[in-house]
Amino acid sequence: MDGPLLSVLLLLLLGALSLRGQGPGPGGPSEEPGKEEVPEEDGILVLSHRTLGRALQEHPALLVEFYAPWCGHCKALAPEYIKAAALLAAESAKTRLAKVDGPSEPELTKEFAVTEYPTLKFFRNGNRTDPEEYTGPREAEGIAEWLRRRVGSSTTRLEDEEGAQALIDAHDVVVIGFFQDLQDEDVATFLALAQDALDMTFGLTDRPQLFQKFGLTKDTVVLFKKFDEGRADFPVDEELGLDQGDLSRFLLTHSMHLVTEFNSQTSPKIFAARILNHLLLFINQTLAPHQELLAGFREAAPPFRGQVLFVVVDVSANNNHVLQYFGLRAEEAPTLRFINMETTKKYKPEDRGPVTAAWVTTFCHSVLSGKVKPYLLSQEVPPDWDQHPVKTLVGKNFEQVAFDETKNVFIKFYAPWCTHCKEMAPTWEALAEKYRDHEDIIIAELDATANELEGFPVHGFPTLKYFPAGQGRKVIEYKSARDLETFSKFLDNGGKLPEEEPAEEPSAPFPDTLANSTVDLKEEL
Ligand SMILES: *[C@@H]1O[C@H](CO)[C@@H](O)[C@H](O)[C@H]1NC(C)=O
Ligand SMILES: *[C@@H]1O[C@H](CO)[C@@H](O)[C@H](O)[C@H]1NC(C)=O
Ligand SMILES: *[C@@H]1O[C@H](CO)[C@@H](O)[C@H](O)[C@H]1NC(C)=O
Repeated sequence: MDGPLLSVLLLLLLGALSLRGQGPGPGGPSEEPGKEEVPEEDGILVLSHRTLGRALQEHPALLVEFYAPWCGHCKALAPEYIKAAALLAAESAKTRLAKVDGPSEPELTKEFAVTEYPTLKFFRNGNRTDPEEYTGPREAEGIAEWLRRRVGSSTTRLEDEEGAQALIDAHDVVVIGFFQDLQDEDVATFLALAQDALDMTFGLTDRPQLFQKFGLTKDTVVLFKKFDEGRADFPVDEELGLDQGDLSRFLLTHSMHLVTEFNSQTSPKIFAARILNHLLLFINQTLAPHQELLAGFREAAPPFRGQVLFVVVDVSANNNHVLQYFGLRAEEAPTLRFINMETTKKYKPEDRGPVTAAWVTTFCHSVLSGKVKPYLLSQEVPPDWDQHPVKTLVGKNFEQVAFDETKNVFIKFYAPWCTHCKEMAPTWEALAEKYRDHEDIIIAELDATANELEGFPVHGFPTLKYFPAGQGRKVIEYKSARDLETFSKFLDNGGKLPEEEPAEEPSAPFPDTLANSTVDLKEEL
């Protein structure tokens, strides 16, 4: 190439580059990257690596969802996300919602370290560095409220008694921070908590007359409620300051009713309460004598606040899954059960006393002090348990069959709702049929949701275990392919496979199809 021509090209190139830095030239639409119109779908901005910069410039509060077309949880979120955008638009909020197709935008997923879908990030003031991770709820009102509490104010400033009383009267639970100095670090901690505790209403004041009205002399967070004790105070530690975790736990504990009725609205709160011990009273609410027991139950509750959550389960409502979990029949009500949510150990009273406050208190203390042994669920041994090719095991005959020293026992631990278990059921039947005449081989199954085994926690379904004959209580976990041929090889070979077959993972130990919730990007790319 010739000298002059090269210079001309170079000039053109430099010109183009410098234009890029200055935004659109005078007149006419521009096709430069970053200056494209941002398309919208149902009120949601649809962003790409070319348009994110522009969206950030135009919208000082921008929530961006990284989604994948194949992600089930993204699909579930989509209508809520659209509704949230509509709610905010109706309030003329400046906040905008946007989405990015992650798999099609590898530059963006890399820049923002997106490893699962959906991932939501909140950008403020056009700042592209370190957006805030969205940790809020996945329904419309929750999403809108999370954003309101960040863009607007998360607390109401209270200047006088009237304002304070009006706020307290308007809600079941109101949390007010009384701080002498609003510049204090503790106030920032309080406000940060208020941003995330979406189901509570917050107020804030530094007014001396309000301290006086509520009988306070020091910085205190007060929870006002329209039930139980009416009020609970959390004094700010003068030396250590306000600890967000402690305050959060205090508010959760004290915003719950002393006695909570179990139903679909309260169950998420019950599980979120982070109180490890739950005491459940099972009653039939349609029976007057049962209802009368509530008084004694309620009377016993206050000293255990924060340590044991008191829950009432109505057996005449649709609570069969709870009954089943505790191995209870409705006819057994009224009765108590105690559970530690961390260990999932369950306890029952040793005698069937009348449900009085004293009796409830004694039972709680006995469990907490370790005097009561946990119980394990077991069904009764069915009369025909050994009459079919696949033998039926329950908690009560498991030990005797599985550890029979003269038999090789191959057991399927299943859950009635587990699809993988249902899929392999015919194969298991066929296997049992095939080995029917082998005196020393037993093919069995055990419903692990209704039968708990000491020292044999089952974490996934199905779980297959082989208990070889002989002494030593040996147990071999089977993790290979679930087909007749591989099973047979395993049995013929005495509980080993000639060469390891590829493993099949058991499905998760819960009925939900949470398996599709988050899919690792790495697997997809
Ligand atoms: C953007 O946010 C980051 C992290 O919070 C901060 O360090 C940076 O100064 C901010 N940039 C601007 C221009 O405000
Ligand atoms: C609750 O009590 C009512 C009234 O006796 C009875 O008809 C009903 O079957 C009971 N419910 C259960 C689940 O036992
Ligand atoms: C989970 O994902 C798989 C593969 O994409 C799909 O076949 C299956 O239907 C999904 N299950 C649910 C419950 O969404």
